Amino acid sequence: MKKILVTGGTGFIGSHTVVELLNAGYDVDIIDNLCNSKASVIDKISEITGKKPTFYQQDLLNQPALDQLFQTNKYYAVMHFAGLKSVSESQVKPYEYHHNNIVSTLNIIKCMLEHKVNRLIFSSSATVYGTQDSPECFESMVTGQGITNPYGRTKYFIEEILKDVSAGHPELSITLLRYFNPIGNHPSGLIGEDPNGIPNNIMPVIIRVAQGKIAKLKVFGNDYDTPDGTGQRDFIHVVDLAKGHIAALKHMQKGVNIYNLGTGTANSVLELIYSFERISGQKIPYEIVDRRPGDLGAVWANSAKANAELGWRTQLTIEDAITDTLQYLKLHQ
Ligand code: WQD
Repeated sequence: MKKILVTGGTGFIGSHTVVELLNAGYDVDIIDNLCNSKASVIDKISEITGKKPTFYQQDLLNQPALDQLFQTNKYYAVMHFAGLKSVSESQVKPYEYHHNNIVSTLNIIKCMLEHKVNRLIFSSSATVYGTQDSPECFESMVTGQGITNPYGRTKYFIEEILKDVSAGHPELSITLLRYFNPIGNHPSGLIGEDPNGIPNNIMPVIIRVAQGKIAKLKVFGNDYDTPDGTGQRDFIHVVDLAKGHIAALKHMQKGVNIYNLGTGTANSVLELIYSFERISGQKIPYEIVDRRPGDLGAVWANSAKANAELGWRTQLTIEDAITDTLQYLKLHQ
């Protein structure tokens, strides 16, 4: 059985990907320092899949401990999700973000090279596109220009490091998956997006409003060049996103291969709010406020490359994501 090391595997996207890996018959080791997730996710993963991943509560910055894992396990591939990921927090803790995200990745690469583990899937982000002339993002675009926050720059820098490492090590197969806006959760409602502290992203904020933990949602600007003036994003169901990782794993090629994982369509902030209200029957109070610094108006994926080369495309809708979110809310009031 092929064994996969999943860093950050108790996090939002990592845990959903572990579910799909186990369902697809892979053996999974998770390494996570639990700085933004909970160990209880492991039991939820087992409840969903009937299988138990091996869990190591370790920090990727602890290189000797990480090396020990590679000494005692023969990994078929590494899926690297672990990283600090709050856009706003990265602006007040730039050193911590660069140190943690980049050194963690260098430690992974060192272990892979020394232990001849030749397949890596990296959790990248649409943020690396920075500012473009077109709201539709293509993998061929130049990246790194106009990125507005240290978090996004760590993703861009890591992509560039991986391209350099690949050039010096042709035996490696490296896949960069650029996510757009993941929402929703596993239909069981057992796992979901549950960040520690104050959420940045819109869906966890809507969830907090629905739970009564936040009085109303602040809509950051309605003067963008979009149909209703609010931001437009490519909201992809996290289960579709997770399945994209399985497809990528099955199509690993030598060198660096880059794929957008998105639906290819955009919905506005107001459309998301109205959909949530329609499906939940619950009002989501909101107030239009000033734009959030660094935000773009409209961003969505062109995912034709992933569709064609990975044989993957999204199957689920925003409505599915909201329905699944409501199931999560039922179990996590
Ligand atoms: C979406 C839209 C906001 C919150 C970020 C990261 C990206 C990726 C996804 C990790 C925008 C609006 C939001 C709120 C709002 N993360 N909004 N009120 O900024 O597109 O992308 O998360 O990989 O890397 O940059 O996501 O959910 O923060 O914002 O009006 O309270 O919702 O203005 O138009 P974003 P988001």
